[in-house]
This record gives sequence, structure tokens and C-alpha cells, in this order.
Amino acid sequence: QAVKAVEINGQKYVTDSSYTNVTPSIIGLTGRSLHLKECHPVGILREAIEKKLNSIDSAFTVYNEFKPVVTRFENFDSLGFPEDHPGRSKSDTYYVNGEYLLRTHTSAHEMECFNRIKSGKSGKPGFLISADVYRRDEIDRTHYPVFHQMEGCRVWKRDRSEVSGKEPAHITRLRAELANLEEQLSRQATKVVVEDDTSLEDNPKQEYMTDIEVDLCSRHLKRSIELVMTEVFQRKIESMKKLENNTSEIPSELRVRWIKAYFPWTAPSWEIEVWWQGDWLELCGCGLVREEVLQRAGFEPASTISWAFGLGLDRIAMLLFEIPDIRLFWTNDNRFHDQFQKQVINTFKPYSKYPGTVRDVAFWLTKDNQLNKIHENDVMEIVRNVAGDLIESVKLVDQFEHPKTGRISQCYRINYQSMDRNITNSEINKLQEQVRNQLAETYGVEVR
Ligand code: PHE
Repeated sequence: QAVKAVEINGQKYVTDSSYTNVTPSIIGLTGRSLHLKECHPVGILREAIEKKLNSIDSAFTVYNEFKPVVTRFENFDSLGFPEDHPGRSKSDTYYVNGEYLLRTHTSAHEMECFNRIKSGKSGKPGFLISADVYRRDEIDRTHYPVFHQMEGCRVWKRDRSEVSGKEPAHITRLRAELANLEEQLSRQATKVVVEDDTSLEDNPKQEYMTDIEVDLCSRHLKRSIELVMTEVFQRKIESMKKLENNTSEIPSELRVRWIKAYFPWTAPSWEIEVWWQGDWLELCGCGLVREEVLQRAGFEPASTISWAFGLGLDRIAMLLFEIPDIRLFWTNDNRFHDQFQKQVINTFKPYSKYPGTVRDVAFWLTKDNQLNKIHENDVMEIVRNVAGDLIESVKLVDQFEHPKTGRISQCYRINYQSMDRNITNSEINKLQEQVRNQLAETYGVEVR
């Protein structure tokens, strides 16, 4: 059998039939770099957050050009992901081959960037990384297999000289920085109301850190993220006030809450949720970086303390700019792009609404399918490959077992809809036919 290869960002990779599941339609998105476009909602938001975080003492080196293909080591092992973590599975992650994959989060670059601090290649005690990340997922108005994250990290070198009667230098520095952050927060026009009843009881600290270090470092982390959230939401609140026919309620303060979380490479770990129009939104995971990760990056054991966060940009951009469908981010239609300007957060005006068309596809699974479960994401993948961005959503709507034969039938509902134009019935018929054929070909299912 011939050796097959794929090319991603100008680099060729040999594929491996037991791993490779990247598809041409996904590879086609790897060069788009929406986060670098200064007139794109994702790019505008990215820049606003970077500016705010670096406005205080310019502590962060900014890395926005990392390519999406990384090693399994970078994405998982370097961060202490257990071997059986679901994130590693082929149903969740796009593998290029057995060694390379499309990063599933910007944390994949933490080790490299920590190492740049350690080796002196970066003169700053922190970094921000923004990039496109890839996860096999359902498709609907708020989920797309590619989205964007910003990673942020800070490091402090521990002063262990133990001069009696004197506080270690890094503690003094942390206190001063924290006071500065709190001052900044109090000067924001929108007040932030914080609920935090998390404790270290079921979210323990790392052995090597002292209580005071954990306390100061956690507060520094939380205040930094709260500063980002107030900055961003305050801009939204301001622009809502300017709208003449605004119909949504304008909040007078920003409510956020901290909840405990779990990530393999941070301890303790949290998530921040922001109260927005009647819902708590999960926007950012974070924590104090595990010593093992810092050591892997070259730091001496117990020589530093550090925090890290990972922020999802697309969801925040969707609500700031009022983008009704995440696929709009990826359109090439100028009626979308012409609405945005550098550094401005404005409200998107839908340019047209084309009706969607719903089609079902139902099939009997084979014995083999029943053993090696067809995953919902596998069906998505086929549909997406056939119809690309003409898919509004794909959902499993029915599943039953035949009482006599014991065979399982599944029915998926596909909603075809274009953001930019009308799709004709005959066009949809053709797509639907291709979907049916590909399902039968790939999985041997009996289409009904
Ligand atoms: N990478 C995590 C995610 O994608 C977020 C995170 C980043 C959590 C850094 C902790 C520290 O969900």
C-alpha cells in the first residue's frame, strides 16, 4: 500500500491509518489565523485583552504565531495528562499521525514558553499565547471544530535566602503587584462583584508552596482574570448604553464567581463564571502550575511559583459583538467583515437570514458498528466533509433496538443552512445523497 502524506502549514506529515483522522476541510482552516486579523471580532478581542494585561507593568511576552501541529508530548504528556484521559481519544482529537496532532488547547505551548523564561530568551516574567485550537465536536450555532484560546502565565522566582526577620523578596514583590492590581480593579468604571467560596480542602495546594505563597499567587491570578473580565464586559456595557433602541437589560455591575476545577497540570485549579443575561458563562480555566511542569521546562525543583489561565475567545467575542452563529467567524463574505473596525466593539447586524432545511438520515448499524461504536462525532465528520459550512447542526434524534433482530437503528437530523445565500432543494438532495453514500461506504451501515 502506498504511503500517504498530508501537508499542513507547508509541512508534510506521513499519515498512519490507525491514527490519522484530520480531514481536508479541517486542514483547510489551519492557515486562517482569525486571531491575527485586526478587524475580526476574535482579533479585536485578543488585542484588547493583551493591551489590558500589559498595561500594568508589561510583564507578558506575546506569542501569537505558534503553528497548530504539535506533538502528543506537548499537548498531553508534558502537562501530566494520564494515559487514559478522554481528551486523548480519537473521537475528541484530530490526529495527524501517531506522533503529531492538532493542538486541543494553547496549554500545549506552556512548556516551551516557560523554558524561554528559564533560559533568558524572554526577558519577561510572563507570557500570553493566542492561537487556534481544534476539537472534534458536535456542530451547532455555538460549536465549531476550531476555536481560539488565549493562554496566560506568570512566574516568580522564589527567594530562599532566609534572612532572619526579613520577608523573602518574592513575597514582598507579589504583595506590591497584588496591591497594584486591586487598585486597577477599583478604578474600573464597572464594579465587579465576586463570589468565591472555594476552599483548599478538596482542591489542595502543592506541598512545596507555603500558605502565604498560595494565598498571594491565587489572589494575583484571580484579580488578573477579573480585570480582564471587567475590561471586556465594561466595553460591552458602554456600547449598550449608546444604542438608542437597546432592548436588553444593562447591568450596573459585573457578577462573577469562582468555582473549583480540575486540570492535570495545575493545583489548586479554578474556573471563573460570569453572569450575563440570565446565565452563568464558563469562560476561563486556571490554576497554580504544578512543579513537575516547571521542572520539565528546565527550572530547578521548587525554585519558582507560577499561575496559568486559558481563556476561550470565541464565546466572549460572540456575545460582545452579538454574533448569532459561530460559523460567521469563518465566512469570507464581506457583508460580515465590512462591519468591523480595528479596536472597536460594535453590534453585528445580520445581513440576511436564509431559511434552513431539515433532512433526516436513518440507518441500521452492523454487528461490527455495535461493537466498535460509531461515535456521534464520526457522523458529524462525514456530514461536514460533504457539506462544509452549509451545515447548521447535526443531532442524533432517535435510536432504537429492533425487538426481534436486536439490530440498532440510529437517526440523525441534519439542518442545512447557508449564512450567505439560498441553497436549492436539488443542491441539498445531492448533498444528502453523498452523506448517505459515505456513511454506507465508511461504516458499512445499512441506510434506510
Ligand atoms: N487548557 C485548559 C482548557 O482548555 C484551560 C487552562 C489553561 C486551565 C491553563 C488551567 C491552566 O480547558
